Amino acid sequence: MTAVDDQSAANFSIEQKWQDYTEEEHSIWRLLFERQQQLLVGRACDEFLEGLDALGVAAYGIPDFRKLSDALDAATGWRIVAVPGLVPDDVFFAFLARRRFPSTCFIRRRDQLDYLQEPDVFHDICGHVPLLMNPVFADYMQAYGEGGLKALGLGHLQHLARLYWYTVEFGLIATRRGLRIYGSGVLSSAGESVYCLEDPRPHRIRFDLRRVMRTRYRIDDFQQTYFVIDDFRQLFDATRPDFAPIYHEIATQPDIEPDGLVRDDRPFNASRSLSAGSHGQKNGLQVVRSPSLGRKRLEDVRQHHNQ
Ligand code: PHE
Ligand code: CO
Repeated sequence: MTAVDDQSAANFSIEQKWQDYTEEEHSIWRLLFERQQQLLVGRACDEFLEGLDALGVAAYGIPDFRKLSDALDAATGWRIVAVPGLVPDDVFFAFLARRRFPSTCFIRRRDQLDYLQEPDVFHDICGHVPLLMNPVFADYMQAYGEGGLKALGLGHLQHLARLYWYTVEFGLIATRRGLRIYGSGVLSSAGESVYCLEDPRPHRIRFDLRRVMRTRYRIDDFQQTYFVIDDFRQLFDATRPDFAPIYHEIATQPDIEPDGLVRDDRPFNASRSLSAGSHGQKNGLQVVRSPSLGRKRLEDVRQHHNQ
């Protein structure tokens, strides 16, 4: 990383000021946390649940980033850096490339439990940080940051951003006990964590790097397509090659719509996994249909508002 990257990254970090959170803010965290706890057993992948446990992120309130970073650092060398909100792409990638995860500090209000436009501390910490405890996933995120700086230089950020969206934010993983969630945008959303596994409408397609990078995504509703990996090693290996020739190759091919299907798609056999789980809507949860908090790029949000 260059000195310029270092400087701009430093300019975006702030103090979490943990002692300034109010009791109301901690209690909103508890509400969100307890709700997801119930939903995610049997839905989140084991790596996530294990990471959550080991980190000691807990129900009692918004965690202190310093303490969390110490646990994370000991496991995989990652640390959390507090930022004021969405940061520019180059800054975001520069952080990841140095094993720094930029997290927002603010928490949504009580009337926004199911929906807000931007990532908040619950999404960033509860959604993203547990998986950074996993060594393979931790390396993937760093490689992604390096790849992001490179994609910026090559003018292919849009393609690489789709990979982040459909893996880190909305990825599903096939396990022997059925389909599970590893995408943070889903894991921090009550509605989508049920929808992505149990609703018959969205496509669930086996992960294919080029297919993913050609697929547009929507930031204003639940996803219409999810991509399914077998394990994190597969994801890491598939993304190891030099992307420069791949970017050139897919630049000649048309984009695929968020709900599109193409000839070579390998559908994930959903019926098996849908019957493997026995959740249904039985827990009395009201599924609110609203978008999850994926890492929207500043660009996405701007375009969306101008539509
Ligand atoms: N291999 C990619 C490249 O050459 C970098 C990358 C790794 C991108 C992992 C995303 C995830 O650009
Ligand atoms: Co996110």
